[in-house]
Amino acid sequence: MTMDAEFYSRVADRFGGYFSDAQSTDVFPDGRPDAAFDELVAALGTPQARLLDVGCADGRRLLQTSPAYGAVTGIDLSPSMLECAERYREEAGLRHVAFELCDAAATGLPDGSVDVVTSRRGPLVAGEFGRVLRPGGALVYMGIGEQDARELKETFGRGQDFGSWNGRPLADEVAGQLSEAGFTVTRSQAFRFEEFYHSADDLDTFLQQVPIIEDYDPAADKEVFERYAAAATFDGRIRLPRHWFIVQAQKPAAARPSDA
Ligand SMILES: C[S@@+](CC[C@H](N)C(=O)[O-])C[C@H]1O[C@@H](n2cnc3c(N)ncnc32)[C@H](O)[C@@H]1O
Repeated sequence: MTMDAEFYSRVADRFGGYFSDAQSTDVFPDGRPDAAFDELVAALGTPQARLLDVGCADGRRLLQTSPAYGAVTGIDLSPSMLECAERYREEAGLRHVAFELCDAAATGLPDGSVDVVTSRRGPLVAGEFGRVLRPGGALVYMGIGEQDARELKETFGRGQDFGSWNGRPLADEVAGQLSEAGFTVTRSQAFRFEEFYHSADDLDTFLQQVPIIEDYDPAADKEVFERYAAAATFDGRIRLPRHWFIVQAQKPAAARPSDA
């Protein structure tokens, strides 16, 4: 298992999936990114369409959009996340959905065998996604932006994509990678929002659930955590500014003989 998969397996073993019970009240001036993502993915579905979701984790988000498709495969590198996903799939009674332990970089799927690929804060492997998509097929990617939890990372002096706030926007990086792989980028949308954690315990739990500070250690990081919490507390709640983005792209349709 890679470090990444080990992290997510620990999360799944501890929380029974990808989500914890950390309580926050969230404010979405640009709309809810997860809802926007679901809407885009559902709109691309048909009863015949095949969907591949990479980095599906516990599959709960994928199961919500899966009824719009005829066949759905979720892949992940974390066996524990996939065990949870299979349990949620069974509970939902969705037989057209399958989960597989598989690397997004080498799916083993035939060329052009998928209508839509999604990755929701999962890996981006533009070449492999372009290979498995049929001509005209779509990719919907949700990523974490360069301004995400910036003040937290600055206080800790480390974290996911630390310092990237000074560089090229990560949405542009993604769009660039997709264009280089032959995709036509059709949408790039940023979502800035704020989470207000109800208590220090809630923020602490959340930081153990996500890799914002990949090696977060509640004991070793106690002093820096308390410093952040004190500076970011407003009306008794601890503010965490977030930045996500959605990039949608299309694989060009095959040229017709008359186009030659
Ligand atoms: C942030 S979580 C995504 C959660 C999920 N998509 C959701 O929205 O609920 C990232 C997931 O990607 C998986 N992952 C990371 N690298 C991967 C790879 N190369 N192939 C497949 N899955 C991968 C991790 O194991 C993890 O479960």
